[in-house]
Amino acid sequence: MKAVALSRESAPALRDVHLPPPLPPQGRDLLIRVEAVSVNPVDGKQRAATDPATLEVPRVLGWDASGVVEAIGEEASLFASGDEVYYAGDVTRPGCNAQYHWVDERLVARKPTTLDFAEAAALPLTTLTAWELLFQRMPLQLDDRRHAGQRLLVIGGAGGVGSMAIQLARHAGFEVIATASRESSSNWCRQMGAQHVVDHSQPLRPQLQALGVDTVQVALNLADTDHYWDELGQLLAPQGHVGLIVEPRGALRIGDPYKAKCIGIHWEFMFARSRFATADCIEQHRILSRAASMLDAGQLRGTLSETLGTINAANLEIAHQRLASGRTLGKLALAGWDD
Ligand SMILES: NC(=O)c1ccc[n+]([C@@H]2O[C@H](COP(=O)([O-])OP(=O)(O)OC[C@H]3O[C@@H](n4cnc5c(N)ncnc54)[C@H](OP(=O)(O)O)[C@@H]3O)[C@@H](O)[C@H]2O)c1
Repeated sequence: MKAVALSRESAPALRDVHLPPPLPPQGRDLLIRVEAVSVNPVDGKQRAATDPATLEVPRVLGWDASGVVEAIGEEASLFASGDEVYYAGDVTRPGCNAQYHWVDERLVARKPTTLDFAEAAALPLTTLTAWELLFQRMPLQLDDRRHAGQRLLVIGGAGGVGSMAIQLARHAGFEVIATASRESSSNWCRQMGAQHVVDHSQPLRPQLQALGVDTVQVALNLADTDHYWDELGQLLAPQGHVGLIVEPRGALRIGDPYKAKCIGIHWEFMFARSRFATADCIEQHRILSRAASMLDAGQLRGTLSETLGTINAANLEIAHQRLASGRTLGKLALAGWDD
């Protein structure tokens, strides 16, 4: 089967490779025929952490896919051959930049029927991250606009995670303020539903005060944990919550004002469930299933901004470079395989 991988010979470049045909899936695994993939910063981080000299076999990256179930393991019960699915998968296993891929069915859901494969592949990793952070790590509720009258700040609103966080927070009833540093990213945040956009290249507090906002109940820092730490400590309301997804470069001072205000500090790591094989990893199947229903009902919209051609090493290299610029809008995907 075709795949794109890092190999000892090609390092550090990505390379088009032929891998042995896939073996039948075991246990709760599905064998997926991959139709589209999207890229995430985790690809670059895994790539940087891989020493090609140590690779016995090529290393396939990629943790966002859509495709068709080809075969199911003997213990799998949620899917049948032919189902169209989408998923992020497990970073401790080979990635999805391959024509065929094994994934545990508990991490997979049927893809939204109204989206094509590229649009669907753009969603799983970032949707799981935003959803788990908001509604499973933080004590927030998705339904019934429970948070009407409360404000939520999304730092890095136009990124992959931010694009879905804005939409989910709006669905929950929050007044959403996003940050973006450019006109195009500011417009993108508004398309995703942000009511206000402020510029993260400038101090945030004066810009919020100009909007008549002194405090926010919730802040999601989706970009730079250290850089915004002190400012968010000032901006958050007493008994508010801050959500973090990016590893800090240094130590964070979690005392005052965080302690004085009793601010909840919440970490999200989308791969924690699969990495530690937690008993509740089927939650990712449930989240992606619910998100697919919401997408099909028009309650959420897709976040794909561009499809960069078929899945091959040259196109994935372009996608990785574009993402590494830190200036993409929404998500980049690749779809189909060259003949
Ligand atoms: N813990 C987890 O489970 C998890 C999951 C997914 C992602 N992540 C991490 O979360 C981060 C965001 O991921 P992503 O997929 O959303 O990234 P992304 O799509 O690459 O984010 C791009 C956006 O980031 C904004 N941005 C760049 N530098 C910024 C800064 N200093 N302050 C605020 N915004 C900034 C840009 O906005 P402008 O162009 O307007 O400047 C751009 O629109 C990455 O570090 C990623 O590794 C963690």
